Amino acid sequence: MSKLDVLVLEGDGIGPEVTTEAIGVLQRACELGGIALSLEPGPFGGACIDAHGEPITQAVLDRASQADGVLLGACGGPKWDALPTSKRPERGLLRLREHLAVFANLRPAKLFAALADSCPLRPERAKNFDFLVIRELVGGIYFGKPRQVTGEPGHRVGENTLVYSEPEIIRIGRVAFETAQRRNKKLLSVDKANVLEVMGLWREVMTALAKDYTDVKLEHMYVDNAAMQLILRPADFDVLVTGNMFGDILSDLAAAATGSIGLLPSAALGEGPGLYEPVHGSAPDIAGQGKANPLAAIMSVAMLLEHTAQRVDLAGAVNDSVDAVLNRGLRTADLAKQGETTVSTQEMGTAVLAEVEKRLS
Ligand code: IPM
Ligand code: MG
Repeated sequence: MSKLDVLVLEGDGIGPEVTTEAIGVLQRACELGGIALSLEPGPFGGACIDAHGEPITQAVLDRASQADGVLLGACGGPKWDALPTSKRPERGLLRLREHLAVFANLRPAKLFAALADSCPLRPERAKNFDFLVIRELVGGIYFGKPRQVTGEPGHRVGENTLVYSEPEIIRIGRVAFETAQRRNKKLLSVDKANVLEVMGLWREVMTALAKDYTDVKLEHMYVDNAAMQLILRPADFDVLVTGNMFGDILSDLAAAATGSIGLLPSAALGEGPGLYEPVHGSAPDIAGQGKANPLAAIMSVAMLLEHTAQRVDLAGAVNDSVDAVLNRGLRTADLAKQGETTVSTQEMGTAVLAEVEKRLS
C-alpha cells in the first residue's frame, strides 16, 4: 500500500468548510484506492496571525517541506485588512509558495456542460471551452526587489520590480510545453513584449524553447489582447503560459467565464511537495453559513491525487463525480439560478462522496 502525507492548512473564511468536504472526499478516495493517508492540520493565514502573530510559522514551513503535499483552504478577511502588506494573511501564502519553490501553477478552466447557462458569455462563443492557465508563481513582480515605499509623506514613492531571469522563464516554459504535448498541442505565451524589456526576454526565450517541442504550436499574445480574446473566443484556447501577475488576473477572468469562481481548482508544482488550493478567496461575507461551493476544493484534491499521488484513476473518479452531481442538478448558491433549489456546502460534499464511492467500490 502506498502512503500519502498531506498537510492541511484550512485558513480563514470559507476555507475550513470547503476543506472539510474536500478532505472527506480525499479520505474515501484513498481508502478505496489503497493509499494510507495521513493528514495533519496546521495554522495558516489570519487564524495564524491571531494565534502566533504571523500568517505562517517556521514550524509550518518546515512541516510543509516534509509532506508529500499541502492542501490549502483560503486566507484573509476584513479583520486583518488594515495590516501593512508585509504582515497580511496573503503574505503567508506567498511565503509558503516561495518556501516550497512551487513555480508552476496550473489553473484549469472549463465550462461544465450542466452549467453552460451560468456562463456570462453568449452560448455560441463559450461552447465547451476547456483551457489551462499555467502561471509562474514564485517570481516576477510578486517577489522582485526592490519592493518598498520610501520618502517623506506627500512625496513618497512606492516601487515593485518585475524581474525574470532566463532560467526562470525556461523552467516554466518547459512545464508549459510538456503540458501542451499531453493536451491539444497548442501553447499561447502571454506577455507585454511591446512595452517591457523583461517581457521581450520572456518572448525570446519561449520562442527559442519551441525548437525542442516541434509538435507544439506556439503563439504569442500581449496580455491586454489575450484578456479580450479569452472572452471573445474561449474555446480556441488550450494551454496558456504567463508570468505571476498576468496569471493572477487572467485566472480570475477564466473563473468568471466558467460561471462561478467556486469552480476553479489549482495545483502549484515544483521539485518537492505540491501545493493545492481552490482559486477562490476566503469569501468572509458567506463564511460559516454553509453556502460556499466546495467543488473547487474537491477538484484541488483531484489534482493532488493526479500530481502528487500519481493516481490518475482516483483523480478521474473525483472529477467524474463532480460532473455527475452537477448533471443531476445539484447547485450551491453561487451556481443556482433564481428560484432554483440550493444545496449546502456539506450536502454538495456528501453528494460527491457518494459518487466517488459508487465509482471506486
Ligand atoms: C491567487 C490569489 C493570491 C495571489 C493572493 C491571495 C495572494 O489572488 O492565488 O490568485 O495573488 O496569488
Ligand atoms: Mg488571484
